[in-house]
Order: sequence, then structure tokens, then C-alpha cells
Amino acid sequence: MSMKIPFFNQRQLNNSLQVSDQDTPEHIAIVMDGNGRWAKKRGLPRVAGHKEGVSTVFKIVKAAAKCNVKVLTLYTFSTENWKRPKSEVETILRLPKEFLHIYLPELISNNVRIEAIGDMDNLPAHTREAIQYAIQRTRDNDGLQLNFALNYGGRTEILNAMKKMFSDMNDSKMSLDELDEQRFSRYLYTADLPDPDLLIRTGGEKRLSNFLLWQLAYTEFWFTDVLWPDFSEKEFLQALDEFRNRKRRYGGI
Ligand code: FPP
Repeated sequence: MSMKIPFFNQRQLNNSLQVSDQDTPEHIAIVMDGNGRWAKKRGLPRVAGHKEGVSTVFKIVKAAAKCNVKVLTLYTFSTENWKRPKSEVETILRLPKEFLHIYLPELISNNVRIEAIGDMDNLPAHTREAIQYAIQRTRDNDGLQLNFALNYGGRTEILNAMKKMFSDMNDSKMSLDELDEQRFSRYLYTADLPDPDLLIRTGGEKRLSNFLLWQLAYTEFWFTDVLWPDFSEKEFLQALDEFRNRKRRYGGI
């Protein structure tokens, strides 16, 4: 008889690595870049790279959960990605459903809570419904929060936040005097989340690509040339190790 081993095993991990939760980033954001190049190197169509990237997502979710990371935000589809060929867009937007079809039961039994940020209204119904179902099924879980950034753009997020805020001001629900960074943050998609402590970008490029522009103000960045489909727990743990050695000064000395 096979026994199911949960992928959360904090005590075992702490014993083996001698690290404490205190040194672990609470929120990690990842730009999962390099799928197209991974496929090209193998003479495969670009979409083969995205499909391979789905298994990497699960590996990294498991690794993050084992390390007791609280929130993992994955840049899955940006507002700019609509510019790609229609067939590639369609493939990427089918991946959340395929991922959840395979992995949702295991995510549920491991206490993972699924959430999404971005403009969900303009996604195909099948993508939105798959995500909404997963959000609903995992809403009472209090383990790792797995946050898919879908049809997400940082500038649009900030503009939408401003529109909502001005509308509240018009309705006298808020005054200009009350406006500060904390109040403004409440209008963002990430209202209930801590800002990311660590941003990982795979695939060798060193840019933000319109990801979490407000939230990354004091985040530590970690870049690797490894392409997303090849990214593994090994590199993930390396990023965490380097993060632990960074001195975060938040503008102080
Ligand atoms: C960027 O690589 C990647 C994307 C735009 C899509 C990311 C999607 C996944 C990794 C799969 C999503 C998984 C789930 C679970 C929903 P690129 O295509 O720009 O790579 P390139 O720079 O090599 O062309």
C-alpha cells in the first residue's frame, strides 16, 4: 500500500538545512521566463515550453510550501501577452485549467490556498471558471497562498486603484488627508498581501516587465539564466540562501 507523503514537512526541512522561518521570505514573486527559448533549443514549438513550465510550477509550489513560504505569486499572463500569436495566447490561457485538473486534489490535501490577481473579467470563461472553482475549493486552507497573476499589468493595476480611490473620495468615503501609502495599497489587487520580500526572474532577462510595480519597491531581486522549464528546487533554495545573506535596509543604513 502506498502512503501519501504531504509536501509540507517543515520540521524535516529545518533539521536538514538549519534555517528558521524568520529567515525565509514570507512572499516570493516569480517571473517565469524562458519557456519559448527552452522549446526552441529542442526544435519544439514555443507552446511545448509553456506546457513543460506547468510541471515546474508544481515543483516550485512544493518547494515553497516545504520552506514555509506564505505567499507565492506567479506571473502567468501579462496584459501585454495578448500581443503574442493567437494560438500561443490560447495555449497559455488553457494552462491554468490543465494545471488544476492534474494538481488541484494534491494542492487541496496540502492546505494550499489558490488566489488570482489581475483583470479576470477579460479572460476566456474557461480560464476564469477553472480559477474561480479552485479559489472556492481552497478558500478555507491556511497554508501556502498560491497567487496566479493572470491578465495582470502593474500600471493598469495602479490606474484602476486610483479610479476606485477617486470614486470613494467623490462619495466622501475617504478624504485626501487620509491618503497615505497604506490606504492606497488597499485599492490594489494585493490589498490583503504583504509586499514580496523576494523577486525571482528566470530566463536571463533583468527587467520587471510591468510586474507588481508598486509592491516591489523594497523587494530583493534574484536573477538566473536558467530557463523556467529547467528551474528546479535546487535553484529555488539557492535564491532563498542568497536572500538570507542580503542586508535589507529599506533606505536606512
Ligand atoms: C514567459 O516565457 C512565460 C509566459 C508568458 C507564460 C508563463 C506560463 C507558464 C510558465 C505556465 C503557466 C502555468 C500555470 C500553472 C498556469 P516566454 O515565452 O516569454 O519565454 P522566451 O523569453 O524564452 O520566449
